[in-house]
Amino acid sequence: MSIQVLGTGAYLPEKIVTNDDLAQMVDTSDEWIRQRVGVVERRISVNESAADMAVKAAQRALEAAGITADQLELIVAATVSNDEICPGVGAQVQAAIGASCPAFDVNSACSGFLFALDTAAAFIARGGIRYALVLGAERISRILDWTDRSTCIIFGDGAGAFVIAPGENYLTSHLFTKGSREELYIPMDKGNSPFYEKEVAPLAVHMSGQATFKFAVRRIVDDINIVCDQIGIKPADLSYIVPHQANVRIIDFAAKKLGLPAEKFVVNIDKYGNTSSASVAISFDELARSGKLKKGDLIAMVAFGGGLSSAACIIKW
Ligand code: UT7
Repeated sequence: MSIQVLGTGAYLPEKIVTNDDLAQMVDTSDEWIRQRVGVVERRISVNESAADMAVKAAQRALEAAGITADQLELIVAATVSNDEICPGVGAQVQAAIGASCPAFDVNSACSGFLFALDTAAAFIARGGIRYALVLGAERISRILDWTDRSTCIIFGDGAGAFVIAPGENYLTSHLFTKGSREELYIPMDKGNSPFYEKEVAPLAVHMSGQATFKFAVRRIVDDINIVCDQIGIKPADLSYIVPHQANVRIIDFAAKKLGLPAEKFVVNIDKYGNTSSASVAISFDELARSGKLKKGDLIAMVAFGGGLSSAACIIKW
């Protein structure tokens, strides 16, 4: 048994932070950020946690799906930046929307939403679950070093949500992990224990930009080829690709290597920056609400990030 996507939703906090705003904080420029990354502005939360944003995305997805929170039988949330370790985003959303089902979080950094979607799909395939809510939510601004120009200019906050149910539209998926902290890691500082002697770096996203860039392009290309092979289609048969929004040049390189026109790729990094695990869900929601999708369209979602991790799947609309 597979799944179908019944409804999607997204939420972005109101505050817009432009490249010029950041140029007043670190040594950068609007021109550099637009050309090297593709971000023009991003949304930054001033009073909402990752869980607060996830609640709003969830409510929109439930409305789109035409079901109520009490009908949910599972909530799986992806995040690396909630204000609290517990309760998790999933549990906080459960309480806020009035659901009573089991809820838990997964952490696979920027690939997290697709890991969460695959997890929920597996629960549905096991049987016994009618409606599940899948979330990707980040207040990634809380874990950035706002003095590091190579990372703070890339990211933004936001949340995305899918309501899924048994169906035949999740055609295939592929998850990938290569355990490594060399390219990208987010230490949590040493913590409170008076007994722990190991040094741990301060809380912040630490990224080797070029190494992560190469990993990202390679994973998009490999993962798209793998999921296409799994169902016997060519990448050219895909109607749209919804990639993680990390750098517009990553998307352009991958499109060229796959021999696909740039128009097939959903791009919104200019408006929102890299919202980590929320990015694919927000982008898919934009596509779903654009009116462009036709019945039978094949849509690939693909994400990559810390872990190192990557994931891809194909959905038939
Ligand atoms: O979602 C998680 C996955 N993350 C990613 O996939 C991110 C992948 N990496 C990237 O997107 C890019 O590597 C970055 C945007 C992080 C950096 O872009 P780049 O074109 O790879 O720049 P670079 O690191 O090679 O740096 C080139 C120059 C350096 O100056 P020098 O040494 O050549 O004088 C940097 O210091 O650009 C400088 N630089 C900046 N200049 C102005 C780095 N950041 C900035 C900045 N403004 N914000």
